[in-house]
Amino acid sequence: MAQRVQGTEDLYGNYMRAWQHMQDVAREVFGAYGFDLIETPAIEQVATFVHGIGESTDVVRKEMFRVYSGALIDTLLSKGSEEGLKAKQRLALRPEGTAGVVRAAVQNNFVPQGGAPVKLWYAGPMFRGERPQKGRLRQFHQVGVEWLGAPDAAADAECIIMLMRYFERLGFAPDSLKLAINSMGDVACRPAYRNKVRTFILDHADQMCSDCLERAEINPLRAFDCKNDHCREVMSDAPLAPDNLCDDCAEHYAQVKRYLDEAGIDYVEDPTLVRGLDYYTRTVFEVEVEGAGVGAIGGGGRYDGLMELEGGKPTPGLGFAVGFERIALALEAQGVNMGGDAPSCVYVACTPDVRTHVFSAVLALREAGIRTEADYQGRSLKSQFKQANKLGARLCVVLGPDEVAEGVATLRDMSTHDQVQVPLGELAPYVAARLSPC
Ligand code: HAM
Repeated sequence: MAQRVQGTEDLYGNYMRAWQHMQDVAREVFGAYGFDLIETPAIEQVATFVHGIGESTDVVRKEMFRVYSGALIDTLLSKGSEEGLKAKQRLALRPEGTAGVVRAAVQNNFVPQGGAPVKLWYAGPMFRGERPQKGRLRQFHQVGVEWLGAPDAAADAECIIMLMRYFERLGFAPDSLKLAINSMGDVACRPAYRNKVRTFILDHADQMCSDCLERAEINPLRAFDCKNDHCREVMSDAPLAPDNLCDDCAEHYAQVKRYLDEAGIDYVEDPTLVRGLDYYTRTVFEVEVEGAGVGAIGGGGRYDGLMELEGGKPTPGLGFAVGFERIALALEAQGVNMGGDAPSCVYVACTPDVRTHVFSAVLALREAGIRTEADYQGRSLKSQFKQANKLGARLCVVLGPDEVAEGVATLRDMSTHDQVQVPLGELAPYVAARLSPC
């Protein structure tokens, strides 16, 4: 039997309803902030991610799934390397959504010079070749937003506020959420800071793991995130980003915090929060759920250099993404059923002799938008009722020879077992009224 790929999941039933609910709430909450839905391809040129996310990040170096057409694989095997392949032949499954949205914004000129900011949200599968474990998958689902063309610190604060409102609307207890923020500086101050951290790591080389020594050369700030406790202990004495900001970045960070305070948003400043993607400048943030043990449920930040890295004009940007699977796990631990109840339906049951009359009754109910089920396997009336119960039907329409002769249907309430007779011609509006909440 063919097997599901490790680190991937089938989405169906309650889990699928939960994923759809996350998108419905996103449409409502992000819509109020002026965001429109965008869908970019799940497959992009490798260059899109290398330019944007950064060649030295784990996501690009180790975790990106590369895609080659069957014909290319023969060429690759015979040559033994990717060399000579054109950019359009070097493809990858997207490990995240930002780079693709920014690529689309550049290609379609979403933010013309001097134009108004553009606000986009998206939902879809992302792919990372990580070691699968609880809350860490190879195909996972993100809902994210990107806001292009807004340099103002108010945009950073609004983005964070919108994220926290989204989590609350999904059902998280507000005091279970831990929001961490930091500022990573920009092109003016980050290179010098990076260098300071590199020097610090090299000065403590005898106490650091080999991964961190490698990081010192390619991506020193990632040493703050080392899985090795001892490295993190050493790094607690390393120079911190907020202490090394230029005046403009320091002022921007102070403003973001002022706006968050004004909106009454609780946050902790984590000067070691660096995030795993290279495109961030200035504000970065992450949200965890106290005690959930699934890692960050969402994160994001500002990326004022990304449009240029993707070949566009200098345009500021910021955004965040949240992970569906981690949110589902964390909400479940809080006793929240994000998928809600299965939709109730109406079941049309009949005796075999009047089966043909059921056909038009079922059609009429469905035309009225009522979720309607019937028997297609020649079951007895008793087992049709059983089936109706199993499907969670609130009402059962019963048709037998007497009802058909009189032009009525018997309507049975499946929880109280009360029955009424309704003229067949009035069945759909009657059922719709019985099912409506008030
Ligand atoms: P990220 O922090 O890499 O940011 O991912 C965002 C969220 O996706 C994480 O907080 C986590 O909930 C979820 N996630 C990431 N990797 C996995 C995985 N392997 N399995 C399950 N869930 C996962 C980004 O992707 C940025 N593009 C966010 C952003 C948008 N920044 C600016 N705009």
